[in-house]
Amino acid sequence: MKIAVLPGDGIGTEIVAQAVEVLNVLDLKFEMETALVGGAAFDAHGHPLPEATLKLAMQSDAVLFGAVGDWKYDKLDRPLRPEQAILGLRKNMGLFANFRPAICYAELVGASSLKPELISGLDILIIRELTGDIYFGQPRGRRIATDGHFPGAEEAFDTMRYSRPEIERIAHVAFQAARKRSKRVTSVDKSNVLETFQFWRDVVTDVHKDYPDIALDHMYVDNAAMQLVKEPKRFDVVVTGNMFGDILSDEASMLTGSIGMLPSASLNTENQGLYEPSHGSAPDIAGKDIANPLATILSAAMMLRFSLQQGQAADRIETAVKSVLASGLRTSDIWSEGCRKVSTREMGAAVVAAITKTSKG
Ligand code: IPM
Ligand code: MG
Repeated sequence: MKIAVLPGDGIGTEIVAQAVEVLNVLDLKFEMETALVGGAAFDAHGHPLPEATLKLAMQSDAVLFGAVGDWKYDKLDRPLRPEQAILGLRKNMGLFANFRPAICYAELVGASSLKPELISGLDILIIRELTGDIYFGQPRGRRIATDGHFPGAEEAFDTMRYSRPEIERIAHVAFQAARKRSKRVTSVDKSNVLETFQFWRDVVTDVHKDYPDIALDHMYVDNAAMQLVKEPKRFDVVVTGNMFGDILSDEASMLTGSIGMLPSASLNTENQGLYEPSHGSAPDIAGKDIANPLATILSAAMMLRFSLQQGQAADRIETAVKSVLASGLRTSDIWSEGCRKVSTREMGAAVVAAITKTSKG
């Protein structure tokens, strides 16, 4: 089992270091190799996704990813910006299926901006298509308009597109995930306006014929954004395109109060995967040893379960995280009155200790 470890920028290095400590205490045999990615790779090699990093990722069974990005790179040409590293990995590895759970941990109900009764027990799985849509559609660029409201003016354009097989495979992923949960899927689109998403709705409806045991409903994305804050518990599995999934997953994760806790997985057809926290590189708190490492530690658990077939080891990590939370330890993002505030390293060490304790007991 080979794991490519790509810490990236900002708090990425600090949180990934803790996840690596946790992996090391499990007594499993894997080879871990670290490489630069994002702004860190740009600084060292002049490119956010150097050839060697991409090669390492492609040859590994799984990638453990921290985060990329910093304001100081905002002025670079787009192909050199840190975000291109994650987009390049998704594209080159064919990571089309992105799993973003939004779970409200009982201990953190108070950290949500919504009323406790709306979010306690919340457990949504957002499945975002990750290699198509307007993110990757060609053509795109800038030009002088020959038509539209202002012929002769400078304009920019992107292309929203989805092919039938792209929609089919993500729909299958969603229906199969729903089989292991409450057997409900909400497909989110904008079929009232966009041709691409009328097609999306048609294809999802076709694929649904193979899953008579699953209840499917369709929702427009604007309504979905509203329902997420109005009545989030009405959702179970949500499947949607790349751009709507980007937006809705940020909304869903924040309303759990647990953004520092939420892992994510991006898989290709071979179950090779990239695992990263749902949050970003948080340059404002980088280097201070205060970031929450739990989302990354839980991403490592997802990696063990989905790409490395080590479900038991994944369970051990998740149980350890729960016990550490139950014992009242909190990093500052999730801290509340009566809890003990700990650093990034202390939190990682507490998870390691909890795992060691259960393996002895
Ligand atoms: C995400 C991020 C990325 C995206 C950026 C960093 C390219 O926002 O993973 O949600 O837009 O997909
Ligand atoms: Mg995003």
